[in-house]
Amino acid sequence: MYLCALKFHIMITPISGFSKLSKEEKIDWLSQTYLAHNTNARKILTQYWNPDSGLQQLHEEFTENTLSNYYLPFGLAPNFLINDRLYAVPMAIEESSVIAAASKAAKFWSDRGGFKAEVLGTEKIGQVHFMYSGDGKKLEHFFNSIKSTLLEAVAPLTKNMEKRGGGVMNMELRDKTKLLDNYYQLHCTFETKDSMGANFINSCLERFAETFREAAKSHEAFNATEKEIEIVMSILSNYVPGCIVKAEVSCPVTALADQGMSGEDFAAKFVRALKIAEVEPYRAVTHNKGIMNGIDAVVLATGNDFRAVEAGIHAYASKDGKYSSLTHAEVHDGQFRFWMEIPLALGTVGGLTALHPLSKIALEILQKPSAEELMKIVAVAGLAQNFAAVKSLITTGIQQGHMKMHLMNILNQFQATTQEKEVLTSYFKNHNVSHSAVEQQLEKLRS
Ligand code: MEV
Repeated sequence: MYLCALKFHIMITPISGFSKLSKEEKIDWLSQTYLAHNTNARKILTQYWNPDSGLQQLHEEFTENTLSNYYLPFGLAPNFLINDRLYAVPMAIEESSVIAAASKAAKFWSDRGGFKAEVLGTEKIGQVHFMYSGDGKKLEHFFNSIKSTLLEAVAPLTKNMEKRGGGVMNMELRDKTKLLDNYYQLHCTFETKDSMGANFINSCLERFAETFREAAKSHEAFNATEKEIEIVMSILSNYVPGCIVKAEVSCPVTALADQGMSGEDFAAKFVRALKIAEVEPYRAVTHNKGIMNGIDAVVLATGNDFRAVEAGIHAYASKDGKYSSLTHAEVHDGQFRFWMEIPLALGTVGGLTALHPLSKIALEILQKPSAEELMKIVAVAGLAQNFAAVKSLITTGIQQGHMKMHLMNILNQFQATTQEKEVLTSYFKNHNVSHSAVEQQLEKLRS
């Protein structure tokens, strides 16, 4: 085994100045260094170029060392009735069944009064993390005396944001020395209106940090060591438990009858499935992953930062000390209720939202929503996705619908022709899809 591994080991030396090479030179280097065995490598990478529109240059300017473009399907889930307004929701996602499931859940609930959504808070957070080994009381006194100077120092940065109703909302000195020796924070809260606000928050924090450290140097009550405030870092937090949206649906249990199952039985089993996700982290993670299928797809389509959203939501799922379900359900007086509260820091201006032509059109499809409206739409997409997944799980099982949608991927894996695809799509309308069943039918067809 070891000799075998050695046989294919290639000696690679580090490259310097890679970013300075042209795109073609980068691909040359890559083809010779890591992809020498793959004669198609260049073609695979270059077939996604879009040289005749401004798009290629735009993409290359988003990030460094771009070689190609990585496409995802951009689709639409119509019929989302949210607070009595009908939306068609754009989604960017590769997983076969997600858009179909979202569309199905949207239609199901639009016939039962639709989704209700409400923004409960829009507070964003950023922190200056610093070390100070002196007297805590003196630090507190210094902070109180300098707070207005800190806020004045960011006035040029906050001017435009304040015109839009946002800005720095609050700043506190937090003593964290019980967690870590000498560790303190300036814990700041912000309102960033329709922008996600990451650049705004980080710029303010860095200005706070610089002003704070400089002022400490000349503060008369500090001794020589106390003047030494070491700024460790200044950065926004992607944990935003004060930037919360709630989405919910409800209907009489009788309206839930499905596939030979009574509405009462369906609702009771649905609630049980959610209780399992509330108490069992192994299930909760998969349950929440299903929610994120809907959330990420809309977040990505609208040019928002899905990594920030993922990090914040999963942290929120653990807020009570144990990872748990983000959604909840109950039956009360014959009424079924299904809801979710999640933190979502989103923007509909700035960032990629206006730069990426597909994000721009996604926001146009959503009728140019404010950040708060987008929070509601995204949360609803997550709730709908979870409803569809749990509904399948407790009735037919997930594979039936999932594999039907996955059929085309399997056919493509076997390089099926258009004609073969037509024949087998029709055949599998009435048969269970599995990898081996598709292989078998294809073999039959080909022989
Ligand atoms: C698959 O992408 C998502 C599901 O696993 C979610 C769930 O189990 O609830 C179907």
